[in-house]
Amino acid sequence: MNTILVTGSNGQLGNELRKLAKDYTDFQFIFTDIAELDITSPLAIDEMMSTHRVQTIINCAAYTAVDKAESDSEIAMRINAKAPQFLAEAAKKYDALLFHVSTDYVFSGQGFQPYKEDEPCAPQSAYGLTKLKGEEAVINSNCKAVIIRTSWLYSAFGNNFIKTMRKYGAERGFLKVVFDQIGTPTWAGDLAKAILDIIPQTKPERCGIYHYSNEGVCSWYDFAIEILDKSGIPCKVEPIETKDYPLPATRPYYSVLNKSKIKQDFKLAIPYWKESLSKCLLEIETMSL
Ligand SMILES: NC(=O)c1ccc[n+]([C@@H]2O[C@H](COP(=O)([O-])OP(=O)(O)OC[C@H]3O[C@@H](n4cnc5c(N)ncnc54)[C@H](OP(=O)(O)O)[C@@H]3O)[C@@H](O)[C@H]2O)c1
Repeated sequence: MNTILVTGSNGQLGNELRKLAKDYTDFQFIFTDIAELDITSPLAIDEMMSTHRVQTIINCAAYTAVDKAESDSEIAMRINAKAPQFLAEAAKKYDALLFHVSTDYVFSGQGFQPYKEDEPCAPQSAYGLTKLKGEEAVINSNCKAVIIRTSWLYSAFGNNFIKTMRKYGAERGFLKVVFDQIGTPTWAGDLAKAILDIIPQTKPERCGIYHYSNEGVCSWYDFAIEILDKSGIPCKVEPIETKDYPLPATRPYYSVLNKSKIKQDFKLAIPYWKESLSKCLLEIETMSL
């Protein structure tokens, strides 16, 4: 039986993995968050790996407060860059496979065609830089690793853009949302399933960087309208430019990910973003009953 250590499992992706665990009976899961395993501690990682004979690590732990990272870059670097190095070193020592999750924010966002895995990175924010350093640390360790870059992640767990739009849309009936940042939303439930389906197919030649998001493309404005429409929340949405909504961290204008490689290597069928949004909204509504 493949023993899988999941880090940061109280977050969006980690919770989706917890939800799916019962369907993957060939895997034995150890779900941890910072209280059980602080990934910035190499000693704690080593102990966890040896005690439980871990064969696969799925690293969902991260510092994800994109704007706060601008003023908190030392902590963000420790969690997003140094800790993945510790996990990668442990994976190498115990001959385990490491799944590490990264972000579209490693790209400049100045492109206009979906980004492939080998295109040059040029993060525009402290968060993006820490995530790129994390990727580099994993690659430089030479452990068996699959790095999955994803974008605009959401789920029924935790706080995210969907929850914000529903809350303020219902309270205010009027929202302004940027229309000049283009990407693809990703339901963490789909990403969690993709990771679990990939694990048995992973071979040394299939290690490396992959891109995964839902299918399709939209702006945050389009995403907001779809969320509010599908939620039945009457709310007027005004499209605005990024310059009219200044935030501490610079976001990429265009960060659509090209997913050809992951679809081809692992025969994945990826759902369209609107279909997955409907599933997540149904879960949110069921959970709030
Ligand atoms: N969210 C997005 O839009 C997005 C987009 C692209 C890529 N990603 C990447 O996708 C991955 C999963 O993101 P997510 O949205 O599921 O993140 P999340 O909801 O923020 O979950 C991260 C979890 O890691 C925990 N954590 C923080 N520091 C830790 C430490 N030192 N040791 C162990 N656990 C720690 C967090 O605890 P606390 O909450 O207590 O800090 C939280 O439970 C991350 O690598 C992220 O960079 C996310």
